Amino acid sequence: MDEYGEAIHFSESMPANIALIKYIGKDEGNLPLHPTLSLSLPELYTTVHLSYVPSLSKDIWEVHSKSPKLSYKSIERYLQHLKRVKEACDFSGNFSVYAYNNFPMGTGLASSASSFAALTHCALNAIYSIEKVHENHKISQESMAQLSREGSGSSSRSFFSPWAISESSQIRGHSFGAFDELDHIVLVLSTEQKHISSSQAHQLVRTSPVFHERQEKVGQRFNEMCKALKEGQWADVYQLAWDDFIEMHRMFHTARPRFSYCTKRVTKILEHLQTWWQWHEDGPVITMDAGPNIHLLFRKDQKQMQTHLLKQLGNIDYIVGRRVQTEETKFPA
Ligand code: DP6
Repeated sequence: MDEYGEAIHFSESMPANIALIKYIGKDEGNLPLHPTLSLSLPELYTTVHLSYVPSLSKDIWEVHSKSPKLSYKSIERYLQHLKRVKEACDFSGNFSVYAYNNFPMGTGLASSASSFAALTHCALNAIYSIEKVHENHKISQESMAQLSREGSGSSSRSFFSPWAISESSQIRGHSFGAFDELDHIVLVLSTEQKHISSSQAHQLVRTSPVFHERQEKVGQRFNEMCKALKEGQWADVYQLAWDDFIEMHRMFHTARPRFSYCTKRVTKILEHLQTWWQWHEDGPVITMDAGPNIHLLFRKDQKQMQTHLLKQLGNIDYIVGRRVQTEETKFPA
C-alpha cells in the first residue's frame, strides 16, 4: 500500500537522439526553421513514472531516489507539459510524477528529448487506460510527436527510429538502408552542468551574423545529407555533419553575448579525429550538440577501427548510445 492508497501506476521509457542536421533557432511551438535530421539512441533513455491519484488536487513532482535533482524552473516546465497533454485529451485528473535517465546527469548530455518524449507517451497511455479510450480514438505516432514538440522540439524526433526527419511542420521516420545500422558513442569530456541551456541557445543564435547565412544554405545541406546517406557516401556524410555542427558552434561563438563549449580538450580531440580521417581516408561521423561532448557514429564494418581509435584517444570516458550486433559481437571468439 503506498501513501496514496488507491493510486494506479504507469511507466514508459523513450530514447534520446542525435541530430546530424541541427535544430537550432526556432519558431513558436518549437518548430524548426528548416529541415532537421536525427538518429535515435536506444541505449540512452528516460523512464517516466506517473501515479494517478484521484484525491490529488494538482500534478506534483515526486522526489525519488532515482531522479536527478532538478531546478524549480525545470520541474515547472515538465509539469506544464503534463498539463498540456492532459488538456489535449480533456482529462481533469492529476498525477504524481518522477523520471530518471539511464545516463548520468551533469555530463552536459541533452536529456530533454528523451524526458519530454517519455512524459508525453506515458501521460497519453495513462489517460487512455484510465478513460478506457478505444484504439480508434487514440492519436497517431506523428500527432504524439507533434504534441511532444510543444514541450521540447528535439523530443518529437524520439518517436521515430532509426532516423527522424522533421520538415516544415511534419515529422516522420526514415530508413537509410545500410546506414540504419550504426554504432554511436559519446565522448564525455566535461562533467560540468551547461551554463546556457539549449532553449537559451535557440534565442541567442539569432544575434549571430552566421544565423542568416545558415538559413540560406542549410536546406541544401539537408538534401545533400539525405542523398549521401541513401547512396552510402560515408565521407560525404562525415563532411556534411562536420559542416553543420561547426556552423552551429560558430553561431554560439559570434552570438551576443558569445558562449562556447569548445574547450581546449574538445579542440584537441577534434583535431585528432580530423587527422585520423586524413590518414585513413575513413573514420567516424562526428557531431557535437550544445555541450562539450563529442558524438561519434561508426559503420558496422568499422568495429575494429572503433576499438583502435578509442585506445588511441586514451583515458576518455564514453557512453554508448547505440550498438549494432555483428556475428563477432553476438558470438565473441
Ligand atoms: C543543440 O530540443 O533541447 O541539441 O525545443 O527549447 O527544448 P527546446 O530545445 P531542444 O534543442 C536541441 C538543440 C540541439 C540541436 C539538436 O538536437 O538538433
